Parts: sequence; structure tokens; C-alpha cells
Amino acid sequence: MKTYQIDDVTLIRGDNLKALRKMKEDSVDLIITSPPYEDVRSYGSELNFKLTGDEYVEWCLERFMECLRVCKGVVAWVIDSKTKDYQYSMVAFELMVAIKNAGGIPRKPMVYKRVGVSGSGGPDWMRNDWEPILCFTKKRAKLSWSDNTACGEPPKYKPGGNMSQRGKDGSRAKPKKYKAPALANPGNVIDCGAAGGGHLGSNIAHETDAPFPEKIPNFFIRSFCPKDGVVLDPFVGSGTTIAAAIKARRKVIGIDVRPSQIKLCKRRIRQAEMNKGLGIV
Ligand SMILES: C[S@@+](CC[C@H](N)C(=O)[O-])C[C@H]1O[C@@H](n2cnc3c(N)ncnc32)[C@H](O)[C@@H]1O
Repeated sequence: MKTYQIDDVTLIRGDNLKALRKMKEDSVDLIITSPPYEDVRSYGSELNFKLTGDEYVEWCLERFMECLRVCKGVVAWVIDSKTKDYQYSMVAFELMVAIKNAGGIPRKPMVYKRVGVSGSGGPDWMRNDWEPILCFTKKRAKLSWSDNTACGEPPKYKPGGNMSQRGKDGSRAKPKKYKAPALANPGNVIDCGAAGGGHLGSNIAHETDAPFPEKIPNFFIRSFCPKDGVVLDPFVGSGTTIAAAIKARRKVIGIDVRPSQIKLCKRRIRQAEMNKGLGIV
């Protein structure tokens, strides 16, 4: 295992389970990451990742529980299950249940939405336009820090009238005066539009095998990591989370087992530093 410190970025080359085990409890504020999806991708000669089914869920669970130990706030994993021979493997949902059974506290999963690759759902099914983002905390309590309108925009529509919700018995409560917020809560679907072909946030992301768009870590960092906080991505790949953290001016730790990805991260750090302050996300 080797550690590099570049300004506010800590890069660790090595197995994330070993690295996580060395970290102190509650030492980071947010974890946003995305592991390999079963054996869906080849990670080249540096990593032979072939786990599927129960073995894959076990492998992820061990790492997810370490993430919960080191994190004070939200642990979010973008993770999908593969479809093969007309069957969806469901490992992402099996992992979700396994984390809950192991003591993790589930928050409602968020959704990574994008325009999927043509044919990605199979010849008789719909294109794959979304992936679940599993979100857990260690404690069942209000988050110690969150800004749930940080990525919100001013409401698009004027209020249609005062609010009057139905009670459990079906009757309507007396209408309450409704004042529209200055910024609307953005909701739990992160719409990344056409996330492929040049829309990932950086040309460097296209040099890795399975990147996510910068909009995802940007959303989580601004919503769930305080200004003086630390973000961790234990499967950092090309450094998408690092770039988003630099632009949001948060400290960040990235871990990857492949030397090629550490090299990509170093280039990504230089690029993000140049774009910092230009509002480029
Ligand atoms: C899906 S990719 C992450 C891509 C990243 N979100 C991006 O935008 O570039 C998963 C990454 O996890 C890394 N990885 C797989 N197993 C690992 C392990 N045990 N420890 C650390 N990194 C690992 C792979 O090398 C790969 O770069």
C-alpha cells in the first residue's frame, strides 16, 4: 500500500479493505463511491474481478460495513446488478438487505438517471436508464450535517394554493398557509442526462473502465459533506469524486488497487485544480 498527499487530496494505492481497516472510526464525513458491478467489466491485466452472486454480495458487504465504521455521515454506493440470459441478478438489492441485517440504517435509495446505452436492457426489454444508489448511516438519527437544498433550484411553478393533506381516516386537514421555499429540494433522482459520450465531466474519465458522471459526487458532496469535512471514495477509479471534491473545496481521500488509476487520478487532480473556481462541474 502506498499513500500520496497532494494538497487536500490523499491518494492510496492498494486494497480498500486493508486501507479502510487502518482508518479511525468516524474519520470521514461522507463516502460516495461505485464498486465493480459483478463480472460485468474487464479491468485489464491489473485486476481480475470475477465475483458474482452470493460471493459478490459477501465481498461488498465486508467493505460496506468498514465504510460505515469510518464514516460519521452518509455512505452511498452507486451499484447495479447485471442482466444475463433474460434474468436480473438483483445483487444490489441483496446487498441492501444484507447491510440492514448487519446493522446498517437504510435511507431511501437514490436514483442515478441517465440516457442508457441502446440495447442495454436486452432485446425484449427497456433500455437501462437508471441505477440504484444505496444510502446508509451507522446511527438512526438526524444527520449531523446536511444541506438538502444545496443542489436545489428556485421553484419552477407558483404555489397552486394552500396545503391540505389527508389524515389517516381520509378526511382533509384544515388548509395550512403555504410559502414556497427560495430553493426547492432537488429530490432523490439525480438526472445526469446523456451521461456517456463526452458528458462525464472530464475527458480523463473516458480513460477508465466504468466511470460515473461528476454530477453524482458533486450532488452528494454539496448535500452531505460540511465545508471543512472529508469525503472518501474507496473505489476511486479515474478520480471523479476527487475532482468534484476539489471543485467544492472539500478534503478528499481516494483509494484504488490499480496503479493505472492512481496515475489517472494525479492527472485529474491537476485538471480539477485548473477548473476550480470556474464553476465547471
Ligand atoms: C466502477 S470503477 C470506479 C470508477 C469511478 N467512479 C470513476 O468515475 O472513475 C471501480 C474501481 O474500483 C477499483 N477496485 C476494485 N477492487 C478494489 C479493491 N479491492 N480496492 C481498491 N480498489 C478496487 C477498480 O480498480 C476500479 O477502478
